Amino acid sequence: MALLPIIIAPDPRLKQISAPVARVDEATRRLMDDMLETMYQAPGVGLAAPQVGVLRRIIVLDASKKDEERQPYAMVNPELVRVSDQDMRSEEGCLSLPEHYADVVRPAAIRVRYLDREGEIREHDAEGLLATCIQHEIDHLEGILFVDHLSALKRNMILRKLTKAKKAGKAPAPAVAAKAM
Ligand code: NI
Repeated sequence: MALLPIIIAPDPRLKQISAPVARVDEATRRLMDDMLETMYQAPGVGLAAPQVGVLRRIIVLDASKKDEERQPYAMVNPELVRVSDQDMRSEEGCLSLPEHYADVVRPAAIRVRYLDREGEIREHDAEGLLATCIQHEIDHLEGILFVDHLSALKRNMILRKLTKAKKAGKAPAPAVAAKAM
């Protein structure tokens, strides 16, 4: 397994639409393992392939609590097949937008359909942090960042700060694990 460099916004690669995966093969599984390792090391609760420069529809997540056993998910071609009418507001961060956190409103509960490591179709119902995280990661596959859910004013302020930090070559502070996805 290997740690992969995470792309930091603003970057045109984070605004691209990722392509579906035709077949879940050994290379796909290796990428998912590397993404999980990268996510745990960051630390964060989710990571999408475009964040490591691979424009393929692959996401990994683990929304388990610190003192719980790890619960990794690796999803290929994930899609929402059901969303609740009820919304939920929760604070999100992103490993590609270090040090920035903001409240985002999304459906509180979802059902996701995806291919697992073996290429089998699976469905999973999620709520709470896992639901937030799955929606955040699927957004990445569409070139959407959490700041795109904020007002233009807030979004531009965050992106300006990120541009500045990039130019200064400043290493970001460690992520708040439970919110970085
Ligand atoms: Ni993210």
